[in-house]
Amino acid sequence: MSLHHLMLFLHVLGVAVWVGGMAFAWGCLRPAALALPPAQRLPLWAASLARFFPLVWAAIALILLSGFYMLFEVGFAGAPRAWHVMLLTGLVMVAVFASIWFGPWRRLLHAVQREDWAVAALALGAIRQRVGFNLALGILTIAIATLGLGL
Ligand code: HEM
Repeated sequence: MSLHHLMLFLHVLGVAVWVGGMAFAWGCLRPAALALPPAQRLPLWAASLARFFPLVWAAIALILLSGFYMLFEVGFAGAPRAWHVMLLTGLVMVAVFASIWFGPWRRLLHAVQREDWAVAALALGAIRQRVGFNLALGILTIAIATLGLGL
């Protein structure tokens, strides 16, 4: 096993945790939690995301460190165009996640503490939209990385 393969493993592991977690939240937890009243649904989301979001930061650290390592192995200029696009879409995903962390996630936590369900529901709606966007961009990025998509 070379260092390159270890980096590729860590890269794809980070991607699996991040994109897989978003797919679970969107496709499984969201429809199931809709059956609960707000006073149960919103604390459930706050408690689940409080565990998932730190994992996302760890995944981002792994993806960026390993990704830049593999990119600099061949050099920026020598890298296929698909890798440059992966870097771009990956950085957009990181920016969107940071906007969730510093924005609606803070609002959701404070509103759940105050038991202000109307504000909490609004904050969760904003998180849902941005996670949906990042899920779509994550799937597109995996397609770019593996299929090239003619880039
Ligand atoms: C943001 C910075 C990123 C950088 C600098 C980067 C860089 C790279 C590089 C250089 C490789 C090529 C490894 C090789 O084939 O030898 C790679 C592979 C891969 N990347 Fe990224 N990446 C980034 C983000 C992402 C993101 C956000 C995703 C998915 C959501 C992703 C998904 C993948 C996948 C699935 C592979 C494996 C491709 C394969 O082996 O066929 N990357 N990445």
